[in-house]
Amino acid sequence: MIKKQVIGVVFGGVSKEHDISLLSASFVIDNIDTDKFEVKKIGISKKGQWFLYNGNTDNIRNNSWLNKDFIKSITISLDPEKTGFFVLENNKISEFENIDIIFPVLHGKNGEDGSVQALFKIANIPCVGCDFVSSAICMDKDLTHRVLNSANIKTTPHLTLNSYEFKNLNFDELEDNYKKILGYPMFIKPANTGSSIGVNKAQNKEELLKYIKIAFEVDKKIIIEPFVSGREIECAVIGNEEPFASILGEISPSNDFYDFDAKYNNINSLLFIPAELPEQVSNQIRETAIKAYKALGCSGLTRVDFFLTDKNEIILNEPNTIPGFTEISMYTKLLVKSGFEQKEIITRLIELAIEKFQDDLKYNKI
Ligand SMILES: Nc1ncnc2c1ncn2[C@@H]1O[C@H](COP(=O)(O)OP(=O)(O)O)[C@@H](O)[C@H]1O
Ligand SMILES: [Mg+2]
Repeated sequence: MIKKQVIGVVFGGVSKEHDISLLSASFVIDNIDTDKFEVKKIGISKKGQWFLYNGNTDNIRNNSWLNKDFIKSITISLDPEKTGFFVLENNKISEFENIDIIFPVLHGKNGEDGSVQALFKIANIPCVGCDFVSSAICMDKDLTHRVLNSANIKTTPHLTLNSYEFKNLNFDELEDNYKKILGYPMFIKPANTGSSIGVNKAQNKEELLKYIKIAFEVDKKIIIEPFVSGREIECAVIGNEEPFASILGEISPSNDFYDFDAKYNNINSLLFIPAELPEQVSNQIRETAIKAYKALGCSGLTRVDFFLTDKNEIILNEPNTIPGFTEISMYTKLLVKSGFEQKEIITRLIELAIEKFQDDLKYNKI
């Protein structure tokens, strides 16, 4: 019998999106083809401690997995010929757990921003999804825009503000300038964020100041954009060098914009799949999603989000390299509607990670 490859699914993490990761990871674990793969569950606490977890996915979903009966402390092996984790008991190594491939199902800080992707690269373990460079660029809204604009892909215009600059600037002058360049309403966002954390829409000077301060609580770099009036259209992309772009979906937020509550709590937020669009517009968005995926150096998966203005102008809002990944998530639904089965999506993502890892080896001989 051929030995099954061991997939380490990583969940939780230190980001504010910890709880969302628990839902996404449970879905991934439940849908891994166990005829082909063996699964190891690797949980990261909100503090950042790593554990091997051997309980069920229900307790991941309901956030009760950190139970000493089901967890063991682990630390990663950085020996390229011994890929996996050492189990620690009283700070001493007691066992070694081999891992062949990592599937990080983490959102936000330290999960989607290239940090763990770089860690697993050093540890010589193939990792599902974008590599560390692409993850870092896609996480940073300022850098994303710059790369996309240089590939002639339209994004919202934006201004960047660093906390060290803000400290020394006169706010009245700054506001006057922003009003002239962008106009109200303005969107204020931490450069590195997800799930709309720290994202706000300012209608006036007081709100601008308040929301700039809120955004600086999340990140030391923030961006400010003009309000784009339009529909929100999303495309699921899967693949490496020849990626596939799904049919499109539309979100209709229950709140004024797609904030955290509208995304995860409010049942009145609606998803329309497929989005009702003229074929030519739909094709253009899918082509732009692929062009952006390539320009940003993505691999594995990414959900590419757009605004479509009333004049049918296509504006790329942002790529999400580890999008929400449950049965009811847009990423999954778009691929399922495009003909994939749920299990097949997970299997394909694992295969893509192996293919990329092997391909990269060819270029790392010296
Ligand atoms: N410039 C904008 N104009 C209009 N709505 C926006 C703009 N930027 C963001 N939004 C709204 O805020 C939501 C979250 O912003 P986004 O940039 O996607 O951040 P996140 O990475 O947190 O999802 C979007 O889905 C959209 O509803
Ligand atoms: Mg978004």
